[in-house]
Order: sequence, then structure tokens, then C-alpha cells
Amino acid sequence: MRLSVIGCGYLGAVHAAAMVSIGHEVVGVDVDEGKIESLSRGEAPFFEPGLPEILTEAIATGRLRFTTDIAEAAHAEVHFVAVGTPQQKDGSAADLTYVDAAVDALLPHLTAGAVVAGKSTVPVGTAATLAERVATAGATLVWNPEFLREGFAVKDTIDPDRLVVGVPFHDGSATAEGERAADMLREVYHPSVAQGTPFIVTDHATAELVKVAANAFLATKISFINAMAEIAEVTGADVTTLADAIGHDVRIGRRFLGAGIGFGGGCLPKDIRAFSARAEELGRGESVAFLREVDAINMRRRDRAVDLVVAALGGSVFKKNVTVLGAAFKPFSDDTRDSPALDVAVRLFGLGAWVTITDPEAIPNARALHPQLNYVDDRDEALRSADAVIVVTEWDQYRRELSPEHAGSLVNRRVIIDGRNCLDAAAWRADGWAYYGMGRP
Ligand code: UGA
Repeated sequence: MRLSVIGCGYLGAVHAAAMVSIGHEVVGVDVDEGKIESLSRGEAPFFEPGLPEILTEAIATGRLRFTTDIAEAAHAEVHFVAVGTPQQKDGSAADLTYVDAAVDALLPHLTAGAVVAGKSTVPVGTAATLAERVATAGATLVWNPEFLREGFAVKDTIDPDRLVVGVPFHDGSATAEGERAADMLREVYHPSVAQGTPFIVTDHATAELVKVAANAFLATKISFINAMAEIAEVTGADVTTLADAIGHDVRIGRRFLGAGIGFGGGCLPKDIRAFSARAEELGRGESVAFLREVDAINMRRRDRAVDLVVAALGGSVFKKNVTVLGAAFKPFSDDTRDSPALDVAVRLFGLGAWVTITDPEAIPNARALHPQLNYVDDRDEALRSADAVIVVTEWDQYRRELSPEHAGSLVNRRVIIDGRNCLDAAAWRADGWAYYGMGRP
């Protein structure tokens, strides 16, 4: 099929390349010339495992091109809108400027019968408004939320665990136009459909809500275990054993029960805030009032990590060498948007610590946000002369490949704070380290 992808950021760039890899012809459109140039050369403007490979392959087929000229998207049968919906600068709601601009730019080029498929995460009710505008061109709007995880974006796009398509509904079922649009999306995702991946056709509002509900649930799960960590801290219990034990219950499950410095990134934090803001607009603020608590618990864990470093250094970090291992919001990503790791580093710096920070991928992004910190590429170099070390992103380089013995040969004092509960506490203690976990004795 002929597809277009409007917005070539994280979501769009991966989607464009992935759609070519399953046989389609794609034009990717973005207003950022630099991004278009780099993608056209087969270079991903951000770190995502597997993306450079599928990008290069896709360009070599001749079926993928990138442009800043949206008119070149006119021939597409399905247009995916994959622009960002960041948090508003002066509030907690989502900023829909880019979505509106993308649809406005696309409208004059839409042909009758085309499908516009929204992938961006939007407040429930957005699709209904956009659908009317798209209908003026004789095209159909569907909402097709994306559930990809950074770090696994290529796999999640090519082989998703479910596909959700919100189409025009009337009296509780899809209209004929909606059915047709759903069939076109089935054709787009033909390999997944053929292998039986759940393909859920629903109305616009449900599709929009599925996405925010999923992220709200994941955020709640993380904050739940972090709340248990807070209780563990005053009772001497161990939250990691607790998570293992409750996780054996298949109704609960162990995944996303990793207690530590909490969630960050470009999605979970802003999505729960936007959800609360939208629920309030709808007069149902109380229904998701718990999300404020989820947010508050999450932010408290950053304080806790800082407090642990301060306590471990005898009550002050002032003029102490603190090495921060990690800057990305999670491993396999160079994303530092709302990164708890970077936030902890900045707070320690604010308390007068001499902070040295390292990360295998995220240093350029971190430096752009916080140039005041001392960035060191080499892990061992960063560890040299540390009075305390804090692990805040659980990269394998810190979790698996750093032995207590080797680290001990580099630092000034053997003090380690495990902000992700990713280290073997017993092994570090056995090597003479003072080990502090999150919600662990
Ligand atoms: C999240 C969702 O997981 C995706 O399904 C969704 O598509 C995406 O947002 C989105 O809306 O675009 P992502 O932001 O890539 O994906 O990251 P996650 O893997 O969800 O991790 C989020 C944060 O939670 C990270 O900071 C991570 O360190 C933290 N986390 C995760 C924990 O603190 N504990 C855990 O047990 C798991």
C-alpha cells in the first residue's frame, strides 16, 4: 500500500521504516529539515536498537523517502499522524498544537476515500473533532494508538501485542465507512493480522482511552511498588522480595514491579497528567484522582534517592565526589526527557556535590539539558575517586558488567546507592561496600 507518516520523531521514524519492511511504500514527512536530511541518509536522529538497520534496508528498497513537503504525501491511501503531544508549558494538559497543524497541513492534499490514522497520544474526544475536519475532504479518520516501548520500538512496531483501531461508529457499531477503514488498516498490518494478533475495532473514544488507560495502569503499577518500598523502608522489609512474591500471582505479574527512582520519559509522566486534566474537563476528575498520588509517589522516590546519598555520606554531599551511573530515563534509550536519573544528578549538584555523570548513550541529550554537570564518557574514568556512586539507569554496563571488586579499585570510598535495585546487594557488601537500595534493608 501507499502510506504516509506525518511526524518523523520517535514514533514516526520507526513506523515509517517498519511499514516498508512489511512491504509498503512510505513517504515520511516532517517540518524539521535536519531530521529529514539525516533520515534520508539512513541515520536515525536518536538511539534506538535496530532502527539504523531497518532504515538503511528500507531506503535501499526505494520504497521509503523522507520530505518536508507534505504535498508529496497526497498519493497515499493511509496517512499516519505521528506527531508529538507534549505537556503544555503552563499546565498539565496535552499540547495539541502539532496534531492540529499536521491535520491542517494534510487537509488540502487528502483524496476522497483516503484514511487518516492518528497514532499520537491524545485526550479522549480529540478524534471526534478531527474526524469532522477530515470528512470535509471525503476522507475517514481512525485512531490507531501506538504501544511501542523505547528501546524495543522496532520489534513492538513490526510485531505488536495488539492492534487497536477506533473508527466512525453509529448506534453502537462501525459505520460502513468505518468498516472499510478498519479493513484498510487490516491490510496495512497484514503480517500481524495473519498471525492472529488481536485486532480490536472500536469507536474513536475507546481507542483514545485504551492508550491513556494502558499508560496510567503501568504508571500506577510502578508507583504501587514504590509505595510498598516506602513502607518497607520503615519496617525493615525488602521490596524486591515482596515484588517477587506477589509477582508469582499471575493476576498481578512481576513486570513493572521494579521499585527504584520511579518512572520518567516522554510518555508516562505527561500522559497521566494529561489524563487527569482531561478527566477534570469532563467533570470526572475524581475518577482518576489517584493518578495525582501516583505522580506524587513517583516524584518522592527521586527525593529518597538523594536523601540516601546524603545520609550515606554522613549528612552532606557538599564538595563530595558523587558519580552518577546513568542519565537516560531507562536503558536502551538515549532519551533524557523527564529522566529521573538526570533529575537525581541535578539535585545532588544543587546540594553542592561534585557530580560526575556517565551514560553509554545519553550524554549528548543530557548535556544539552543540563550543561552544568560534569559528563564523562568512560565509565571507569567516571568512577575514579568517587566518595559515593549511585546507579540510576540500569544499563548492563553497570548492572552486569561492573564487579564490586573492579569498582572498588577505582573509587575513593566504597559507598553505593542502588537507585534501581539492580545490583546483587550481598555481593557488593561482601566486597566491603556500604550498599543502600530503594526499599531494601
Ligand atoms: C511507555 C509504555 O510502556 C509504552 O507501552 C507506550 O507505548 C509508551 O510509553 C508511549 O506512550 O509511547 P516508555 O516510555 O518507552 O514506554 O518506557 P517504559 O518501558 O514504560 O518505562 C517508563 C519508565 O518507568 C522508565 O523510566 C522506567 O525506568 C520506569 N520503570 C519501568 C520503573 O521504574 N519500574 C518498572 O518496573 C518498570
